[in-house]
Amino acid sequence: MGTTISTQYSYSMNKLKAIICSCFTISSLALAQHNHRHEASPADTRVAVEYPTAMKEHTLISMRDHLLAIGQIQEAMGNSQYDKAAEIAETRLGQTALKSHNAHENAKFMPKGMQELGNQMHRSASKFAIEVQNSGATEDVKPALIALSKTTQACVACHASYKLK
Ligand code: HEC
Repeated sequence: MGTTISTQYSYSMNKLKAIICSCFTISSLALAQHNHRHEASPADTRVAVEYPTAMKEHTLISMRDHLLAIGQIQEAMGNSQYDKAAEIAETRLGQTALKSHNAHENAKFMPKGMQELGNQMHRSASKFAIEVQNSGATEDVKPALIALSKTTQACVACHASYKLK
């Protein structure tokens, strides 16, 4: 009987030690990761592109409208206003927007990769406009959401690689 109790006791002591140890390990790991995040912020590897002042101003105004448009598209979709979502996308982000944005002139100042990401965004937005019109007929928004995410992925890709001087 005495043996059983001491065996059980040492078993639970070991278990307790293991728990205490792993708690320390986990918390010190978490702490190390936390410190790492604050101390070593990743280097800014974006390419700085020089635009003429007026073009830079115009670009940033149009960027802010891009973000506004994305929000308005999501709201329209939430309200089942698929044609409205399509129109916002085509006129403010799609190939139609490309024409009204003086894109041909602006392209001269962009590195090739940046031009391509811009084109990709406009193409994806026009594709989304078609998909979301289809949603009106099918009541299936999934293909439209995928197309919308392709559009925002182009925003993210360009922002990750380029900045303005
Ligand atoms: C072809 C490249 C490119 C694409 C595509 C692009 N952007 Fe930008 N955007 C930029 C650059 C360059 C800046 C300036 C960033 C900097 O200098 O730090 C910028 C800045 C912005 C800003 C900040 C504006 C300000 O006033 O400072 C917003 C908001 C923005 N973009 C939204 C978007 C959204 C939303 C999309 C996609 C629908 C998008 N952008 C697509 C290149 C792009």
